[in-house]
Amino acid sequence: IKALGLRSYTPTRLELPDTMPSRNEPPAVEVKDLAIGYEKGEPVAQHLNFRVYPGEIVGVVGKNGCGKSTLARTLCGLQKELRGEVLYKNSMVPSKRRIRKAYLVMQDPDYQLFTDSVYQELLLALSDQKEKDEKRIDDILDELNLTIYKERHPMSLSGGQKQRTAIGVAALRDAEVLIFDEPTSGLDYKNMESVAEILSALSKRGKAILVISHDNELLMKICSRVIRVDERTSS
Ligand SMILES: Nc1ncnc2c1ncn2[C@@H]1O[C@H](COP(=O)(O)OP(=O)(O)OP(=O)(O)O)[C@@H](O)[C@H]1O
Ligand SMILES: [Mg+2]
Repeated sequence: IKALGLRSYTPTRLELPDTMPSRNEPPAVEVKDLAIGYEKGEPVAQHLNFRVYPGEIVGVVGKNGCGKSTLARTLCGLQKELRGEVLYKNSMVPSKRRIRKAYLVMQDPDYQLFTDSVYQELLLALSDQKEKDEKRIDDILDELNLTIYKERHPMSLSGGQKQRTAIGVAALRDAEVLIFDEPTSGLDYKNMESVAEILSALSKRGKAILVISHDNELLMKICSRVIRVDERTSS
């Protein structure tokens, strides 16, 4: 990561980089002494401390199995933390209420596609918004190179096309924090660049974005810094 010129830090320290956007706003999401894992056994990772501000894109890196996906699920309340606090805009939010705060695009998009067509999937993403701007759907389809597939059943698509559909859904949701778990795994270079552009555009709209990735090229392109989740992090 250093070789890429990215700022890397272990989330056990709380000091913040100088280049933080929106420092005058509270962090979109913050964790304090967080321990994550499963009921039986040792925490997968612990003593996690970090903040992500509106408008930032922060990478999440670490070895296979170190707990990146577990962290993502904990931040959006799909699983309960073992210890510590998760705060959105300085307020502690219990796991059951986090689902409204952060939207997660999972590593496997099959779990997140429900409708009969790509277009319906994106329309569903707008369902809890008062003013539905359906024009944005066409823009998102275009930006993600999905326009020609818009009438296709999501389950008939390739892995990469499903993944881009799930990313499009996230782009249309109005959660302030977006988490992407390996968003470019299995995508070719052109589609990796499209995803990078969408995430950058979302950050400019004020979203706080966490990107779990092993793709150094993606991280270097879009992240201002990375959080390293170490196996059995302790301090
Ligand atoms: N449902 C589960 N019950 C018990 N342990 C689990 C469960 N899911 C994952 N684990 C374990 O928790 C640890 C962290 O898994 P996690 O999927 O969060 O890692 P990761 O950093 O996302 O890995 P990768 O880079 O391979 O995606 C692993 O040791 C894994 O085996
Ligand atoms: Mg994972």
